[in-house]
Amino acid sequence: MSQSENFVGIFGHVNLDYIMDVKKLPEPNTSCQVENVKRFFGGTGANVALMAASMGVKASLASFVGTDFPKDFKDAFSNTGVDTQDLLEMDGFLTPTCRIMTDPENNQIGIMDQGPMGEMDDFPIASHTIESCQIIHIGTGRPAYYRRIMQAARELGKPIYFDPAQELHYLYTPEIFAELLDLSHALFVNQNELATAMKYMNYSDKMQLLEHVELLVITLGKDGSQILTKSEEINIPAVAPKEVIDPTGAGDAYRAGFYAGLSRNKTLDECGWLGAAAASFAIEVSGPVGKLPTWDEILERSKL
Ligand SMILES: Nc1ncnc2c1ncn2[C@@H]1O[C@H](COP(=O)(O)OP(=O)(O)OP(=O)(O)O)[C@@H](O)[C@H]1O
Ligand SMILES: [Mg+2]
Repeated sequence: MSQSENFVGIFGHVNLDYIMDVKKLPEPNTSCQVENVKRFFGGTGANVALMAASMGVKASLASFVGTDFPKDFKDAFSNTGVDTQDLLEMDGFLTPTCRIMTDPENNQIGIMDQGPMGEMDDFPIASHTIESCQIIHIGTGRPAYYRRIMQAARELGKPIYFDPAQELHYLYTPEIFAELLDLSHALFVNQNELATAMKYMNYSDKMQLLEHVELLVITLGKDGSQILTKSEEINIPAVAPKEVIDPTGAGDAYRAGFYAGLSRNKTLDECGWLGAAAASFAIEVSGPVGKLPTWDEILERSKL
C-alpha cells in the first residue's frame, strides 16, 4: 500500500445522538413519554470525516464503536468514500450514544454513554491511519491514547492538528494538555476552549500558545474566526447560512472545510474562508451532518 494515499487521518468520536422531546423532564423514580425522537449521526470524528470526504478530501477515520454499529451509519461512510479500515467494532461494547431530553422550555438532560471510547487508553494504535495520511487530526477521545498516536505520527513526521474540543474542559489536565500541545503543529479552539487552554498554560496572551504550535485557529461563532501564526493574523468573517436551524456541528464543518482547502494547497486565508463556508451549510439543517456540502458548493459560497 502506498504511503500517503489519504490526506487527513481523523481521530474522534463516532456516535449516535438521540434527541427526545418530552413534556416535562422526569423526576427520580418516575418515567416519562417521549413526544418526538430523532436519531442523528454524530461524534467529532464522524462529522469531520463525512464532511471532508464529501468535499473531495481523502480521509481515513480511526475510532471505536460497538458490535451494534448500524448499517445506515456504515453506508454513510462508504457512500462518501471515507476510509474506515481503522473504524473498529469492539467486542463487548455498544456504540457510543448520546441521549438528550428536551422540555418545551428547552431545558435539557443529556446522558452520554462513551462505550469503547471511555476505555480506549490501552486499545491498539490505528497504524493504517497514521501511515496512510499526510496530516493527522486529533479530536475528542482519551488524552492518554492520543499521546501514543501523536508520538507515532511525529516519528513519521506527520503534522498534527489538535482539536480537543469541549473535552478540553474536563478530560485534560494542564500537564497532559501541555504535552500534547508540544507534539502538535496546530491547535483548533473556540472561545471557551481558548480560555481553558490559556488557563492550563498559565498564559495571559494567546500569542504565547504559538511558542508550542505554529498555527492557532480560533473560531468565534457568528463572529467568524481568527487564524494566527507568528507572522500573520488573519480574520475571517462568518459566511451567512440561508437560515439558522441548528448550530451543532459548525465547528466540525469548519475544520472539514479548512482541510478541503489545505489538501488543495490553498493559503491559510483561503482555508479559513472555506471553513466558514462549510460551517454555514452545517447550520442550515438539524444534526451535525444533516447536509454534506460538495467542494463546488463551498467554493461558491466562500466567494474564492
Ligand atoms: N450563527 C452563525 N452564523 C454563521 N456562521 C456561524 C454561526 N455560528 C458558527 N458559525 C461558523 O462556524 C464556525 C465555528 O463555530 P463556533 O465557533 O461556534 O464553533 P464551536 O463552538 O466549536 O461549535 P460546535 O462545537 O457546536 O460545532 C465559526 O467560525 C463560523 O464560521
Ligand atoms: Mg466545537
